[in-house]
Amino acid sequence: MNVENEHSTSLWMETEVAAAEPLRAKATADVVIIGSGIAGLSVAYELAARNLKVVVVDRGHIGKGMTARTTAHLAPVCDDGAGELIKMQGEENAKLFHESQRAAVDRIEEIVKLDRIECNFRRLSAYLFPGPKTEPSELDEELKAMKKAGVAVEKIKGIPLAGYETTTCLHYPDQATFHPLRYLRALTETITKRGGALYERTVISEVEEKDGAVIVRAMNGAVIEAAAAVVATNSPINDRLALHTKLAPYRTYAMAFTIPKDSLPDALYWDTMDPYHYIRQQPGPGGADYLITGGGDHKSGEADDAWARFEAIEAYTRRLIPQLGKEITRWSGQVLDTPDYAAYCGLNPGNKHVYVHTGDSGQGMTHGPLAGLLIADLITSGKSPWQKLYEPSRKPTRDLTNYARENMTTIKNFAEYLAPGEVSSYAQIKKGEGAIVREGLRKVAAYRDTHGKLHKSSAMCTHVGCHVHWNSFERCWDCPCHGSQFAGDGTALNGPAVKNLESLD
Ligand SMILES: Cc1cc2nc3c(=O)[nH]c(=O)nc-3n(C[C@H](O)[C@H](O)[C@H](O)COP(=O)(O)OP(=O)(O)OC[C@H]3O[C@@H](n4cnc5c(N)ncnc54)[C@H](O)[C@@H]3O)c2cc1C
Ligand code: FES
Repeated sequence: MNVENEHSTSLWMETEVAAAEPLRAKATADVVIIGSGIAGLSVAYELAARNLKVVVVDRGHIGKGMTARTTAHLAPVCDDGAGELIKMQGEENAKLFHESQRAAVDRIEEIVKLDRIECNFRRLSAYLFPGPKTEPSELDEELKAMKKAGVAVEKIKGIPLAGYETTTCLHYPDQATFHPLRYLRALTETITKRGGALYERTVISEVEEKDGAVIVRAMNGAVIEAAAAVVATNSPINDRLALHTKLAPYRTYAMAFTIPKDSLPDALYWDTMDPYHYIRQQPGPGGADYLITGGGDHKSGEADDAWARFEAIEAYTRRLIPQLGKEITRWSGQVLDTPDYAAYCGLNPGNKHVYVHTGDSGQGMTHGPLAGLLIADLITSGKSPWQKLYEPSRKPTRDLTNYARENMTTIKNFAEYLAPGEVSSYAQIKKGEGAIVREGLRKVAAYRDTHGKLHKSSAMCTHVGCHVHWNSFERCWDCPCHGSQFAGDGTALNGPAVKNLESLD
């Protein structure tokens, strides 16, 4: 989702990444990159470094998609656990996964040094601590699996969280973190210095291969011709369905608080709960730092109880860290999971010159820079050591339970068209609220804006027709099938949908 229609603000969202204009006519490039998050800008950076002319185009403001909502743990460790990863991918791929994720963090560190980027990049430790239902033997199993997957890890006794002073935990050295938007800002500066161009507020609706090249068309009529295109829109906008049947959208929640400086060792803290909590610090002004805590994940569009989730995250964090200060901000965002925990990154299925990156599985801050290395290698040399692991056309090879479960959402969703509306009249919808209303055979997504004006749209998502759900925290319509999001008035905000909901005003 891009920033202008949002009702929650992350700690970084106000940091400007780059000022750019919309593309209004025609542009040409060696490679056009659609999407200016960590993935798109990393790909653009690597290609510009190899003397290719790049054009980056975004539907919103530069860098203000999901990367502006991240908590930026730069962790090469699979956050679903090595045991799970080995179950889905086998030991060799699990090793390759961790090797490639480490290479992504090393590359960020290298770029930070090379371009002297002031983005609070630092190496630090991560600690995995047991939730209330975790048996000690489960940590032992995970320790073994991590070692098999080539990860440096050790068992330690005690971490500086209340109640865990003597508990056995896992310690992962050499993880990292940074300020994500300051990093992106520096990438854009280098990209433009190397002759690249950035365009914002330009919605791409079509990516076509023709005569050995690519033509990319925007909704406003602008066209970009290039030798290759990279679709880095978080959720792919070029494929109607192929990749989306292998992706599941989840909403996750984050909060930032003040914390007295140096009152908690600077580290990444994760628990073993499902969904898990993720905690870290960020340097703040004056005598305080920020403590960023997140969790509460659920399948997109399947819950509308953000306030209860924030309350639970806060209560949990205060129990662990009693010195926590006042809340600064809270926000939510979406992640796209794959059934085998690795992103889809490489040549888009069925294409020769169109590349895609999606399915970060909650680890987009490492998967994005990895896409930079992998896709730049594929474009310039036709191969990468990680090509097969991240191959977008792959099918999950081992445990198919997740795969089948995720596809049930779409089937269940279509039945909602037969259900009654959520309210029986438009008069019941208060300012700033949205609800589904039945009008004869039709379902209406109705939103009353803060001035009292009622906006009526079809409840049918413009991707492939699922039934949208109101998200009262972000004040937008979420599509549970593949994660599209629309503003209250039906304006498309997040892919795969490109077109607005049909207006019924
Ligand atoms: C609360 C939260 C916490 C997270 N914490 C972590 C973490 O600690 N560590 C981690 O590794 N990951 C984390 N993630 C995940 C990570 O932030 C994302 O996976 C990552 O930022 C995605 O980057 P991206 O470049 O793929 O997508 P984005 O940053 O969303 O960029 C995609 C861009 O494409 C543009 N776009 C979309 N459609 C079009 C179109 N039709 N035409 C033109 N442009 C278009 C969008 O406007 C957007 O700017 C978190 C995510 C959330 C929400
Ligand atoms: S996102 Fe696919 S139908 Fe809505």
